[in-house]
Amino acid sequence: MRSPGELITTDVDEAVDALRAGGLVAIPTETVYGLAAVADRPDAVRRIYSIKGRPTDHPLIVHVAAADALDGWVDGWADGEPAAAVALAAACWPGPLTMLLRRGPRAGDWVTGGRDTVGVRVPAHPMTLTVLERLGGGLAAPSANRFGRVSPTTARHVFDDLGDLLDPNRDRILDGGACRVGVESTIVDLTVEPPQLLRAGAIDATTIARVLDVSVEGASGPSRAAGMLTSHYAPECRVVLAESDADVAQLVGRAEADGARVAVLDRTDDLVVAARLLYDDLRAADRDGVEVLVVRLPPAAGLGHALRDRLSKASAGR
Ligand code: TXA
Ligand code: MG
Repeated sequence: MRSPGELITTDVDEAVDALRAGGLVAIPTETVYGLAAVADRPDAVRRIYSIKGRPTDHPLIVHVAAADALDGWVDGWADGEPAAAVALAAACWPGPLTMLLRRGPRAGDWVTGGRDTVGVRVPAHPMTLTVLERLGGGLAAPSANRFGRVSPTTARHVFDDLGDLLDPNRDRILDGGACRVGVESTIVDLTVEPPQLLRAGAIDATTIARVLDVSVEGASGPSRAAGMLTSHYAPECRVVLAESDADVAQLVGRAEADGARVAVLDRTDDLVVAARLLYDDLRAADRDGVEVLVVRLPPAAGLGHALRDRLSKASAGR
């Protein structure tokens, strides 16, 4: 068993050195922690897949320090193309929005899974922005959890999931505190008309539609984003969903009648807090030996869309 002190650091220089040497660094972002490698290094990026246990055809998001660092990663970016993406970048970055765009020559197959598109984003976390500025290029990073499991929102979560798989001689977990948003970025596909929301997040379709002055197709129905599986974000316990207080009471009663250890999660009074604490709440249920977690769903509006999406995937089990 490794100790947290072997991997967790608050030293940005240490993180930069590890990345430059080809190691992996778990980076704090405003959404969730990412497991990052320099995006131009195929060997380092391949290690992300093996440590996560992630299928290699699930592409990674490229994170950069600012929109103007996307030259080479995105086709036509140096010429101010595509205009919709430039506008969204100005309105939403740094922030919890990932855009799918035609890839440029720098976005290798090892990052895009061989697709002709690339996902890009500027994360809003001061430590990670400093790392990106010092490195100058892009960091390929998925969420820093084992494939299919609950995303990490603290450095300790990352250590609990990946501590024994990371190498203290070359990898680090950069501790930037608890993530402010708590659910993964919104993903919008700008390679189709009209743009399509592939994953709900803190920036909702209405906001994107307002910036672009076009309609945006919602994330309902079978999603086309690679790796958007029905079952995902799953804790060990069984998650059951309640649309109303009456549903909560009924589901609790049923689980208790089965002799299960039951807990209720209801943060519908404050959805910002609900999102921030969602993954910690799911992890805490497992830690406490909860067998059935009854979750009161928020209404399907704004951040409620993202919460309902993650909770329905958590409830689909593994
Ligand atoms: O908030 C976030 O987006 C976090 C932080 C670390 O930035 N990252 C994250 O990455 O959630 P990940 O890999 O766990 O989820 C990204 C999703 C995956 O389902 C991936 O397959 C999809 O986006 N994706 C990335 N690039 C894509 C592409 N070019 N085409 C289709 N899907 C893509
Ligand atoms: Mg993920």
